[in-house]
Amino acid sequence: MDVMPVCVLPHSALGLCLSGCRRLSQLAELPDTHQILRQTCRDYAERELIPIASKLDQSHTYPAKQIQELGAMGVMAIEVPEELGGAGMDYLAYSLVMEEISRGCASTGVVVSVNNSLYIGPILKFGTEEQKRQWITPFTTGDKVGCFALSEPGNGSDAGAASTTAHQDGDQWVLNGTKAWITNSWDASATVVFATTDKSLKHKGISAFVIPMPHPGLSLGKKEDKLGIRASSTANIILEDCRIPLDNMLGPRGAGFKIAMQTLDSGRIGIASQALGIAQASLDCAADYAHKRSAFGAPIGKLQAVQFKLADMAVAIESARLLTWKASFLRDAQKPFTKEAAMAKLAASEAATFCSHQAIQVLGGMGYVTDMPAERHYRDARITEIYEGTSEIQRLVIAGQLLKEYQP
Ligand code: CAA
Repeated sequence: MDVMPVCVLPHSALGLCLSGCRRLSQLAELPDTHQILRQTCRDYAERELIPIASKLDQSHTYPAKQIQELGAMGVMAIEVPEELGGAGMDYLAYSLVMEEISRGCASTGVVVSVNNSLYIGPILKFGTEEQKRQWITPFTTGDKVGCFALSEPGNGSDAGAASTTAHQDGDQWVLNGTKAWITNSWDASATVVFATTDKSLKHKGISAFVIPMPHPGLSLGKKEDKLGIRASSTANIILEDCRIPLDNMLGPRGAGFKIAMQTLDSGRIGIASQALGIAQASLDCAADYAHKRSAFGAPIGKLQAVQFKLADMAVAIESARLLTWKASFLRDAQKPFTKEAAMAKLAASEAATFCSHQAIQVLGGMGYVTDMPAERHYRDARITEIYEGTSEIQRLVIAGQLLKEYQP
């Protein structure tokens, strides 16, 4: 099938647009270019994703064709400069894209998110020019996607306790260990991996590497059978004497933990946006049903019990969206955004959990069966409070930053 029309948005146009939109209050109204991008992705999601999302979920099918179409639209490498094959857009654009795609299909959303922020993100920020050409350009078109291997069976939230090792043997690094819960792993053509080059240095001994997939010494565990986002793959990556050239180290030796933390700061904006998409889809579904379903002689939307739910959902979504846009705006302005990204992820993922729960309540029995999308939104929402840092970790990050601001 033909690839959908491309929304071509040169970076320079976005720059011009945003220069007149530097104050946060003005972000409540998006620049024209961003509105066009948002509408393009919304139209794509309505036409191409919403009709198939349930089938992809039920059959655990990776959306290969859709990812290629999104690659042709520039969506798989939003922040990557045009000369490297990307769209050269900003992070606000990324957030809008992520919300609209995830509103259509949250599984497709996470594939887009991991490729953009967790795989390409650290290479773009910390890679050499040669690494960027080798490891980014082929991942801009949707033909190839990457993944990010930080967590291990023995450490998830405590990311600094990595036990996967990397030692130098001549002109190669040799990696050993198991990485756990790796999104995109079964469909990926390369991964960013974190391993310790010196355990005695704890988190300061962790380094980052890029490994092509498949690769000798790298194998995949079973595809996990998940509650939600079931069209994306999740599995262990097992490294057994996995040899890679010395040039495959990303950034300086021992900088891996900081690379991971900075990557996650950005990634959390993507997951916040994915959660917004799920929350919005839940509200769409509940409000539509409130018009169509009658009880006690009138559409249920006339009942205050239902109206209050819709109002609470809308407030949760709108406040989380503004937090997410604020975090994107700060990042685009090259200002610190660690706290704001954590706030956005916390608020948006809790909004997704809340809204998807409330939507089922509005739909009643119809919310509990697969004929309607509400049950899928409920299942998909749950992971947004877990991956890229649980809600508890986001609270830790927020409090840590806050206490620094109040330091006497
Ligand atoms: N940016 C830059 N540096 C940072 C940083 C940040 N955001 N956060 C911490 N650091 C630095 C600190 O400044 C400190 O530096 P020094 O050693 O030079 O002083 C160092 O890192 C250690 O900091 P902490 O003592 O605060 O670290 P910690 O061990 O207490 O851990 C944590 C902090 C926030 C709990 C962190 O471990 C964390 O974020 N955990 C969650 C991990 C996570 O999100 N995993 C997600 C896996 S990926 C995934 O989910 C992908 C997917 O499937 C889609």
